[in-house]
Amino acid sequence: MNHSWTRRGLLGTGIAALVITGSQFAEIPALFAQGQEVNIYSSRHYNTDKQLYDEFTRQTGIKVNVIEGEPDPLIVRIKSEGKNSPADVLLTADAGRLWRANQEGIFATVNSKTLQSKIPANLRDPQGRWFGFSKRARVIVYNKSKVKPNQVKTYADLTKPQWKGKVISRPGNNIYNQSLVAWMIVNQGAPAATNWSKGLVANFARPPQGNDTAQIEAVAAGVADLAIVNTYYVANLATNKDPKKQEVFNKVGVIFPDQAGGGTHINISGGGLVATAPNKAAGIKFLEYLASPKAQAFFAQANNEYPVVAGTPLSATVKSMGTFKESKTSIASYGPNLARALQITDQTGWK
Ligand SMILES: [Fe+2]
Repeated sequence: MNHSWTRRGLLGTGIAALVITGSQFAEIPALFAQGQEVNIYSSRHYNTDKQLYDEFTRQTGIKVNVIEGEPDPLIVRIKSEGKNSPADVLLTADAGRLWRANQEGIFATVNSKTLQSKIPANLRDPQGRWFGFSKRARVIVYNKSKVKPNQVKTYADLTKPQWKGKVISRPGNNIYNQSLVAWMIVNQGAPAATNWSKGLVANFARPPQGNDTAQIEAVAAGVADLAIVNTYYVANLATNKDPKKQEVFNKVGVIFPDQAGGGTHINISGGGLVATAPNKAAGIKFLEYLASPKAQAFFAQANNEYPVVAGTPLSATVKSMGTFKESKTSIASYGPNLARALQITDQTGWK
């Protein structure tokens, strides 16, 4: 975890020491815009992030300062810094985390026509407190030498008796699985989600352990036939410089579940304006920038995710994974069901 300030700006540091509030910025002539800065707290840490931030500075003259950290500690940090927090924007992954951050009162409402028109309504908070800037699908990976892709078409298929001892997953209390179960509760109700979780646990090849990449590696190694993972973990293996990782990618296939039904479960990485932001106008400008074609390309390609703004090109690997029908369930509907989701995974032994 790196908590030191990273100066990304193209300008000198002299003007940055100027103490001025967000509301005052609006009255400063554009000529002096170069005195502005924006402070980003981010759980992103990708190679292309420097380009992402530098391009914003190039376009606006606003210097970008970044604090990188793990997602949950960043939320705790903003909370504990209180009204003195320098944070203007929080960027993090998963609808569940954005929802939790919002429950903590971290986000301000942003009324931006740009963000509302560019980001589909199901990928942002209806009240404008957080916005999705890239999408990921939670899919099924299979060992190509053991499974034919048409043998598994849905999340429910993972609970069939024929896959007993052949399915793996990271622990149920992981936020990605929590959001998946919350999505199931929204679409099928809690009893169906409970049955699914029970059936999944009954088919586990081993107790849940490791992250999503560990599941893909285990499937490639023959520890199990099937696993539930986010798309970018698969794609990131293909683009990894290590030939061993590329080999893992070559041994597995991707199934986009529920294509004949409501479509595959979608999650986002995203962010919002911090309620106590000292540089509110610059923070909003930065969020709007993230929805621009250039930023969308950086943002999504950095981690092999799907852009949220239509027309943005996909990374070559993501493109090679094929098109699919995605669930249009509102991401904002997951949050209120997270508590129930945790009960379900706990009670059914998905630990
Ligand atoms: Fe992840």
